[in-house]
Amino acid sequence: MAGPQQPGGTKTLKQLFQAEPDRLSRFTFDIAGAHFDWSKTHLDAALLDQFLTRAEQAGFAAARDALFSGDIVNPSEGRPATHVAERGSGAPEEADLAAARRARMRALVDAIEAGAFGALTGILHIGIGGSVLGPALLVDALGRRTSNLTVRFLSNIDGAAFEDAVEPLDPATTLVVAASKTFSTLETLANLDAARAWLRAAGVSDPDGQVVAVTAKPEAAVAQGIDESRILQFGDGVGGRYSLWSSVGLSAALTLGWDAFETLLEGAAEMDRHFRFAEPRDNVPLIAAFADRLYGESFGCQTRGVFAYDERLRLLPFYLQQLEMESNGKSVTTDGQPVAHPTAPVTWGGTGTDAQHAVFQLLHQGTVLVPVEFVAVSDGDDSQDPEHHRLLLLNAFAQGAALMEGRESDDPQRSYAGNRPSATILLDRLDPRSLGAVIAFYEHRTFANAVLLGINPFDQFGVELGKEIARQLAEGADEERLDASTRALMERAGV
Ligand code: F6P
Repeated sequence: MAGPQQPGGTKTLKQLFQAEPDRLSRFTFDIAGAHFDWSKTHLDAALLDQFLTRAEQAGFAAARDALFSGDIVNPSEGRPATHVAERGSGAPEEADLAAARRARMRALVDAIEAGAFGALTGILHIGIGGSVLGPALLVDALGRRTSNLTVRFLSNIDGAAFEDAVEPLDPATTLVVAASKTFSTLETLANLDAARAWLRAAGVSDPDGQVVAVTAKPEAAVAQGIDESRILQFGDGVGGRYSLWSSVGLSAALTLGWDAFETLLEGAAEMDRHFRFAEPRDNVPLIAAFADRLYGESFGCQTRGVFAYDERLRLLPFYLQQLEMESNGKSVTTDGQPVAHPTAPVTWGGTGTDAQHAVFQLLHQGTVLVPVEFVAVSDGDDSQDPEHHRLLLLNAFAQGAALMEGRESDDPQRSYAGNRPSATILLDRLDPRSLGAVIAFYEHRTFANAVLLGINPFDQFGVELGKEIARQLAEGADEERLDASTRALMERAGV
């Protein structure tokens, strides 16, 4: 097989560039210091029109209004999705409530900086899923060189993860931030207990006094022994994977500084305005969702690769995995009918150029088609040799060109079919504004996909069954009800 099949009638990427001289202007966009290039996808003028009709028929405009108006867009849980209000873009009453909570968060940040918890040297942020992936991405991307604090993120229940996380921290001068929307998550509560024991063992007289909780369920945090004065609440309508804009971002705000955190929200708000008000044919999250639908539905692509050509963005693929797969990894529509199309592809990825020497072989010559996304930054890290950065960027662009161009050869081993799509997001600089806009872009693209599919992106019942079985087993439920394989594994592991 020379390469992945493509639906009959669709032009190759090279033919599209020849046939559509305005392709670059039609499929590239500039928002908040970020350049979005979707021109190396198979979307063309005709497909764009078809998808625009589909969006209209799917009620895209009304769904988007509902999101920004604070209407119920998560019907299975009967609530709105208020993450946009966290950056001031939602319904006025939701935005006011978010602003009031943010003022309290700011007061805590100011107090911590003024020494309310002593002279801190570190932060141990405990949380899992949406309660850790966003803050970890922000701190890793923006805080590496700017902060005097040592910040560690702890999520896994594996004791080795705990040891790893606390290893560089001094318990006497470390603030523990426990983030959990529900404050009932097994891993987070177990790690919080372990952190208190760690503080106690080091002679900290009041371990609870060194813990701040961030949650939508303050009563659950109080039940865990945390004083109300050290609890930051965020709204029930803020989904875990959409929560970095809320007080879940506390560790990031402490590391990056309050102004940077506010700028992050402003960058996201710029993307909100674009998504909310740009015409559908010029709306980049929607156009990206059209390409996602095209590859999932017509080209049969089951995965999408995201490659950060910037070490500072190495956590982005992990963040996106939860955002996209937990949101849209569904099989039924909002009214419970089987969904007509493949939903979320498997999001995977890594960093360039490392990934070029590991997985790109398959991307260039494999029999499966993987739409690829490159995320790169024009300006390198200040301390970096500019030549390194130039080579990094050139590699990213070369990969996109090679995927599209391919190369014919008489030798089948050495021939590249080409015509493989990629999209590129190129930030001018990696700063809070552009990163906020890019993360908000991914959120809105996920939402736009959900609208086109008729699914609810804001619930995640699929994660419950496994948790429930684990809980039952931990509580000593009757093992005889389990299958032979699972029983044998438990017996062998002695658990
Ligand atoms: O298991 C999935 C999940 O519910 C995610 O949706 C969420 O981000 C994560 O667990 C953590 O939940 P919590 O913030 O309530 O601890």
